[in-house]
Amino acid sequence: MTLKIELLDRNKHDRGNFDCGNESLNNYIRKQASQDLKRKVATIFVLIEQPDNQVFAYYTLSSYIVEIEVLDLNLAKKLPRYPLLPATLLGRLAVDKNYQGKKFGELILIDALKKSLDATLQIASLAVVAEAIDENAVTFYKKYGFQQFKNNPMKLYISMKSIQNLFDS
Ligand SMILES: CC(C)(COP(=O)(O)OP(=O)(O)OC[C@H]1O[C@@H](n2cnc3c(N)ncnc32)[C@H](O)[C@@H]1OP(=O)(O)O)[C@@H](O)C(=O)NCCC(=O)NCCS
Repeated sequence: MTLKIELLDRNKHDRGNFDCGNESLNNYIRKQASQDLKRKVATIFVLIEQPDNQVFAYYTLSSYIVEIEVLDLNLAKKLPRYPLLPATLLGRLAVDKNYQGKKFGELILIDALKKSLDATLQIASLAVVAEAIDENAVTFYKKYGFQQFKNNPMKLYISMKSIQNLFDS
């Protein structure tokens, strides 16, 4: 089994049967993702198995803005007092049910964090923000160092500095 993470290609990647157990995340990759990619609303990366190019996990990245008030004081006090600050949004992340529990979620999350960090060489971003679909997703993200926003516990963030430390160590 050869695994690859690639930018979504609507003509190449088979995602018709993708099922992560959540209808909204299923419909997104089946019906909406290629439009978002085309319109530059989000970049969508898919984990595929070659040679059949079946998608069994995906995630999305976009630019984002955070308000300084909603950040943890420890992070906020080190930042300039600009009201709005640049961030990266990990809007969706999902693994097909047949492949869950095999560390593919961890694999694509690390890939998303690495791509987000690499992108800061071109466009600054102080944190990656994740939107959790439910309590399980909150637990999943917290395991990797994400913390909940003060004003919205279903949104979490990890500072780019922490991501940098993760890859340095
Ligand atoms: C959440 C999800 C992405 C995890 O992917 P996965 O491939 O099954 O997870 P992994 O095998 O990589 O597990 C990595 C770690 O996260 C934990 N974990 C996995 N799924 C979890 C869940 N639903 N709740 C809490 N922890 C979870 C695992 O126990 C594992 O920790 P361990 O190493 O201590 O055992 C996947 O279950 C999924 O797609 N769920 C439906 C959609 C969803 O909730 N997306 C989340 C963002 S919106």
